[in-house]
Amino acid sequence: MITRRTFLKKLGALTAAGTGTASYAFVLEPRFMLNTTVKSFTPPGWTPGLKLRAVLLADPHVVEPYMPLSRWQAVIEAANALAPDVVFLLGDYVSGLHPRLATVPVADTARAAARLKAPLGVYSVNGNHDWWGDAHVQKTMQGPPEAQRAFEDAGIAVLANRAVRLVKDGQPFWVTGTDSTVAFHNRGHGFISMADLPRTMNQVTDDAPIIHLAHEPDLFVDVPRRVSLTLSGHTHGGQLRIAGYSPVVPSGYGNRFAYGHVVENGQHLFVSGGLGVSTIPFRFGVPPEINVLELG
Ligand SMILES: [Fe+2]
Repeated sequence: MITRRTFLKKLGALTAAGTGTASYAFVLEPRFMLNTTVKSFTPPGWTPGLKLRAVLLADPHVVEPYMPLSRWQAVIEAANALAPDVVFLLGDYVSGLHPRLATVPVADTARAAARLKAPLGVYSVNGNHDWWGDAHVQKTMQGPPEAQRAFEDAGIAVLANRAVRLVKDGQPFWVTGTDSTVAFHNRGHGFISMADLPRTMNQVTDDAPIIHLAHEPDLFVDVPRRVSLTLSGHTHGGQLRIAGYSPVVPSGYGNRFAYGHVVENGQHLFVSGGLGVSTIPFRFGVPPEINVLELG
């Protein structure tokens, strides 16, 4: 028979375990952990001999106390220490928490990002929260959002349905970027996309390989075979990930594009687990991460 003393002991242990798990998920993992993942592969259509070291930073959601400016600056220093050839910023620079905690001006976030160092440059795309966080843009339904203007003012190229041609050691490749596919809520009927994939791809004028940046990975199903690699963020790996499974993913495809390197029918997608939090300020089983891709 269970005595009162045993019962209280068990209850105490359960409470301690619960409190420990909560402390881990709401404080330790999201605010204090930072992993670096390294992945080496040669995507299809890649130029033989073209070696590219790309660093990806996704979804910082800069906001006190989860991603204070000081932590974002530390992430940027860590990214620089990885000696990238090129840096890709995959969107969602502003807070995604409700109610909003102490927000950080996106101009400060952008100015911090301007300290990124890469010989081939730093290229950014807008995330859905960069649109949603700009009340004026949401009201008028006219872009670009404040975050885009802040990054451009800081000297960072924002590929909002744009393409740029880069050259590494005499070998060219393209970096293309589409805008958010869920930029506006459509009065309770889904979302309005600002992504224009045909217009973006039409700017590619030769056969050099393409790396495509798209904040939301769901765009991958529409990306032409001509693209060697698509890079996305947005999912945060579900923020809760256990044994390779994320129960809740902001994607129409569930776990299919939740996290990591996805290869489907010979086409490659890489989804970063990102750095910050949105909606509920916790992460469990998918610590904030910087991604290094060694291509070729
Ligand atoms: Fe995000």
